[in-house]
Amino acid sequence: MAFSVSIVLEVSKRERMRMRIKHRKSSGFHCNAGSRCSVSVVLWSLVGCILTIYFISQINQNDEENRVKSSNHHFTQELEEIEEEEFHLPAPRSKRNPRALRRKGPRKQHTVIDEFLDESSELRLYFFPDQKSATGPTREMNDSKHFYPGKLWLDTDGKPIQAHGGGILFDERTETYYWYGENKDGPTYHAHPRGAARVDIIGVSCYSSKDLWAWKNEGVVLPAEQANATHDLHHSNVLERPKVIYNDNTGNFVMWMHIDDANYTKASVGVAVSNSPVGPFKYLYSKRPHNCDSRDMTIFKDDDGKAYLIYSSEENSELHVSPLTDDYLDVADQMRKILIGQHREAPALFKHKGTYYMITSGCTGWSPNRAMAHAAEEVMGLWETIGNPCVGGNKIFQMTTFFAQSTFIVPLSGLPGVFIFMADRWNPADLRDSRYVWLPLTVGGVVDEPLEYNFGFPVWSKVSIFWHRRWRLPNWWRTA
Ligand code: DGJ
Repeated sequence: MAFSVSIVLEVSKRERMRMRIKHRKSSGFHCNAGSRCSVSVVLWSLVGCILTIYFISQINQNDEENRVKSSNHHFTQELEEIEEEEFHLPAPRSKRNPRALRRKGPRKQHTVIDEFLDESSELRLYFFPDQKSATGPTREMNDSKHFYPGKLWLDTDGKPIQAHGGGILFDERTETYYWYGENKDGPTYHAHPRGAARVDIIGVSCYSSKDLWAWKNEGVVLPAEQANATHDLHHSNVLERPKVIYNDNTGNFVMWMHIDDANYTKASVGVAVSNSPVGPFKYLYSKRPHNCDSRDMTIFKDDDGKAYLIYSSEENSELHVSPLTDDYLDVADQMRKILIGQHREAPALFKHKGTYYMITSGCTGWSPNRAMAHAAEEVMGLWETIGNPCVGGNKIFQMTTFFAQSTFIVPLSGLPGVFIFMADRWNPADLRDSRYVWLPLTVGGVVDEPLEYNFGFPVWSKVSIFWHRRWRLPNWWRTA
């Protein structure tokens, strides 16, 4: 930089010399009117000044860019550090006595997932740390802002955040993030003895934040219907995975969600709309898109304003992708079936350097399973599976998505190639106590098992989600 500055000074010195000579020449040979000469001197000095200022500002700008780049690089390196996690399974339960062995056969092998789901497990606090270790703006100094995946996360009132299966909208006008999710703050029960654990619909919660860490409760922006038992939002039904996008043409905030009955046989999507990010949202209708069953779903808004619905269909055996209509209130006719026969759910999409990526989970109810990353050149194009993105922790963490399930991926402005992977650590014994697992996701490097090669190079970049017990965004990123 010192070198470049001296060049600029040299240039301006030379420029001044040149102008002085020119000035002398002009005085000697051409210039009779003194006023004309001083005008040209002033003009040339001005040009010189402008050039100097321009060069210096360029240097400063490059310097600033390099500083940001190098601090980003340092930050990304930190996020990509591998953090190991150790835990020991409690000793296996006693063997069956010979009579029970004859009657029931040998005990089923006890897995880590059984341990995770077992409320009386010695490991319970490891997966679901208690109130004492809760985190959030009322507990931690505001300058700390660490994310603690799995710990109880409190809002700005000190209450546990209720926004499960959620997604985030960034409102550009107010530079505010809005987090929408299922409010599950009710008792967990089984509607049918063999049915999935459930909580009655309470509604869709909304929280706002400037920094993605301190969240203010904006209330239930789409509440359940209490009286009308035929209404989609009747509390006895199912409302899951709400996602909101903004329509630049209509000025509407449009919410899409999974709507079902308690047995998950309705398998539909629901649509609601509001002219404010904090609601209230008006519920419009539900439907089976393209006459197909639709369970876990998400929506994705591309840079060009086109939006898409992605949903698990054909009894969760495949995903369907469809553009939304221009007002985002319905699906267009076009639909493409993807990942056929792969049995994936909980889709979460993002875009990086023109490539589309998606993280999905397997289909095992509330139990955690292995995530997969997928990539495509077009949202409506061919999607390829590129492997398990989970890195660090340990083998079991990687095989269970850190005991969580994908729901959304947040791009971080100013940090190209870094995203937040949002997942739910479900607690089927007490769904309101389900936790949030937010982790850094980066794109880059070679995929483990590239499926396709282009002139010897794998086509896709690797997607990695790094386990951290505690991590944070850089200080300079955003302040509340
Ligand atoms: C898995 C889905 O991803 C969740 O949203 C929820 O529907 C559970 N299944 C219910 O078992």
